[in-house]
Amino acid sequence: MRNNDNFLNTSKSLTYIRNLYANEDILLKNVRNQCLLNDRPITINPEEGKLIQTLIKLGNIKNILEIGTLYGYSTIWFVRGIENNGKIITIEKEPENAKIARENFNKLENNLSNNIEIINGDANEELEKLVQKQLVFDMIFIDADKSSYPNYLNFTDKLLKKYGLIVADNTFLSGAVYNDYLADRIRFKAQKNMRLFNKMLADKTKYQSIMLNTDEGLNIAIKLI
Ligand code: DHB
Ligand code: MG
Repeated sequence: MRNNDNFLNTSKSLTYIRNLYANEDILLKNVRNQCLLNDRPITINPEEGKLIQTLIKLGNIKNILEIGTLYGYSTIWFVRGIENNGKIITIEKEPENAKIARENFNKLENNLSNNIEIINGDANEELEKLVQKQLVFDMIFIDADKSSYPNYLNFTDKLLKKYGLIVADNTFLSGAVYNDYLADRIRFKAQKNMRLFNKMLADKTKYQSIMLNTDEGLNIAIKLI
């Protein structure tokens, strides 16, 4: 059931939090509704956007790499958290999504769209190019192909600075990481690799990390070495 704001799974407490602390402006509302209309109701939730935005401010994070743009909902939360001279590079595989995201970013206030670069391509290939360019980021947000999460995490060895922030969405994989059975749409490979990803990120010698009990699972980690 969806409520008036087109949210799934709302409780009174969550509605209270959203109204007070994580209100969406018209742009964010429109982008989330755009995802619903196109049958891709897969954005992060507003309170997750606000939490990550708060971490961006806390860490004085300036350079962000986002793996998986879709229509740019999370990118908009992030770009509003970084200082004006900061920058987000966001990778999106599907050209049509990248086009829609660019249109959405062009509606941002204060020329913030200038701080966002969309790379249209397959993340596994594009990440290698960023390594070749010797780019280093303060934060990496992982939200693309669910079977590739361990590979994306391996890239953070080179692409993320020491004490940089890793955030990853959908790490419950619709429950597949802790259930024995597979939900209809989840492939065995994705289940295996998401379990591996969560285990890799739980390594205390490499990461200060936690997994939040959100709808989809959200991991937050600091790279220690
Ligand atoms: C899917 C992808 C996401 O990033 C998400 O948050 C939810 C679902 C998907 O591909 O099904
Ligand atoms: Mg996601």
